[in-house]
Amino acid sequence: MCGIVGYCGPRRAVPILIEGLARLEYRGYDSAGIAVLENGALVVRKKAGKLAGLASELNGYNGEARVGIGHTRWATHGCPTDANAHPHTDCRGQFAVVHNGIIENYLELREWLGSKGHRFSSETDTEVLVHLLEHFYRGDLLAAMYRTVECLRGSYAVAAISLLEPGKIVAVRQDSPLVVGLGKGENFLASDIPALLPHTRDTYILADGEVALLTPHEVKVFNRRGEEVRKPLYRVDWDAAQAEKNGFPHFMLKEIHEQPRALRNTLHGYLAKDGARGVLKGVPLEESWLREIDKIFITACGTAYHAGIVGKYVIERLARIPVEADIASEFRYRQPLIDRRSLVVVISQSGETADTLAALREAKRLGAPVLAVTNVRGSSIAREADFVLLTMAGPEIAVASTKAYTTQLLAMYLLALHLAALRETMSPEEVGRLVRELEGLDGRAEAVLQNGHLVEKLARDYCAASSIFFIGRGLDYAVALEGSLKLKEISYIHAEAYAAGELKHGTLALIEKGVPVVALATQKSLFEKTLSNIKEVKAREATVIALTMEGQRELEKVADHVIYIPEVDPLVAPVLAVIPLQLLAYQMAVARGCDVDQPRNLAKSVTVE
Ligand code: G6P
Repeated sequence: MCGIVGYCGPRRAVPILIEGLARLEYRGYDSAGIAVLENGALVVRKKAGKLAGLASELNGYNGEARVGIGHTRWATHGCPTDANAHPHTDCRGQFAVVHNGIIENYLELREWLGSKGHRFSSETDTEVLVHLLEHFYRGDLLAAMYRTVECLRGSYAVAAISLLEPGKIVAVRQDSPLVVGLGKGENFLASDIPALLPHTRDTYILADGEVALLTPHEVKVFNRRGEEVRKPLYRVDWDAAQAEKNGFPHFMLKEIHEQPRALRNTLHGYLAKDGARGVLKGVPLEESWLREIDKIFITACGTAYHAGIVGKYVIERLARIPVEADIASEFRYRQPLIDRRSLVVVISQSGETADTLAALREAKRLGAPVLAVTNVRGSSIAREADFVLLTMAGPEIAVASTKAYTTQLLAMYLLALHLAALRETMSPEEVGRLVRELEGLDGRAEAVLQNGHLVEKLARDYCAASSIFFIGRGLDYAVALEGSLKLKEISYIHAEAYAAGELKHGTLALIEKGVPVVALATQKSLFEKTLSNIKEVKAREATVIALTMEGQRELEKVADHVIYIPEVDPLVAPVLAVIPLQLLAYQMAVARGCDVDQPRNLAKSVTVE
């Protein structure tokens, strides 16, 4: 959702900015731009389209500038044109600004600035920022930024440079992430850590309302009142190589293959070995309170929401607590019936999704403790939640989430088993048996990955389909939702997931000869029912790709193709069943020539509502 970078130091700024933007391009790729201070001039280069377009226009130009800011855009206000690309400049070309977020009151600000004689050259909300800086500037960029921020409503991470104060970057954040990277004689700024890692692991994670002043030798951070704050140093514990493709053609494929390790790391990080006081360690949820909660709300967006649906099934099944799973953008406006006996679980890979963050704040306002399941330490959601369970998937770069999802599922199982153990809704033996199932998942995930040839062939055979349907019951339905999301977001094939039993109430009308239907049938107790639904679509001459567990040979008689996953307890089957669907989406997108890691119109981290 827009990426920001900044550099000040002794090295040439342009290549550092471009490299930083390349590492943030997953956040948006509608346009890219840089602004640098060079030989007493503010030089701005920007271009609609991906970063490669800007890079080829720069044509190897590295310039002499030692200070600059850069931006990769995910368009909200104004089409992705050259004019709307960031950085934006003021009337006299003395200030340049990049911005991530939405300035909600930009229309009134624009009108007011217009009445003061400012001329606008884009349709963006961002441009008001740079004219405000120009308007308020009285010889101090930092002070002008404070005056600017006072006028704003909305969310923003902003970085600004000025010809009038070369050698400085001023940055501020409110509800959009911003991280300062601390170097030796040079300092950096970025929306996310991967852009900093080639240069430093020492960072300051800015909090809402904080303003940072960067020069080559110093970084100062101030609070809303303008008082300097002592920021704790956050040393990143992973390295740049983890954010590289490591020989894989795409980040998505690499991340799919990292799932066994991600599962292992997350499990080892949180599984309590003795089991006497539940199965979850390292999350200080009070046991007596966990025994008393009477409702759980799980809220999230996109793939994380799909993990929440699995969470609902397994927590209700194992711990017998009612659970509601909600899309975050719906949750916060529907006045949920929450109180202190409710636990609210928010799930977010990035920890920055605006709707999920807003849902978290709403839950806290209503008095409920919030547990965050997130993949990013120090993210807004991690910092604002009362409790944090960090999935240990490592950096996820591809827009389509894969390894974060399976580790989120693992978090749901651990929470469900923990509650079940504490509330004694399961015997210690049963809990132990399911824990062993979880411990076996990494090896079985590896086996599914080794067995991907059939999926590859199916992807080639069916990649020209215009519509593909996914059906399943119970947990299979939850996985069907994720399978269909994966497919549509990266291959642009229309994909719909349906509860298999609900087909006959509408979607069956769309099934005709040759339409591919992916039918999930891993849930033994629902197998016969799902089989009937498969027969229903076969009777309408659909082509059925069934997915089931080894040993369930019966499907071979009905389905056109059968994908097998290793035999596991059906409760944990989603972790394995989703992998062939991730691969199917990936292979189909590749076969159709799509840009797998950067699908059109989407962004990895959605920091606007
Ligand atoms: C975007 C991404 C999805 C992700 C969703 C929620 O839509 O493209 O992959 O599932 O946001 O993101 P979060 O970081 O909150 O899990």
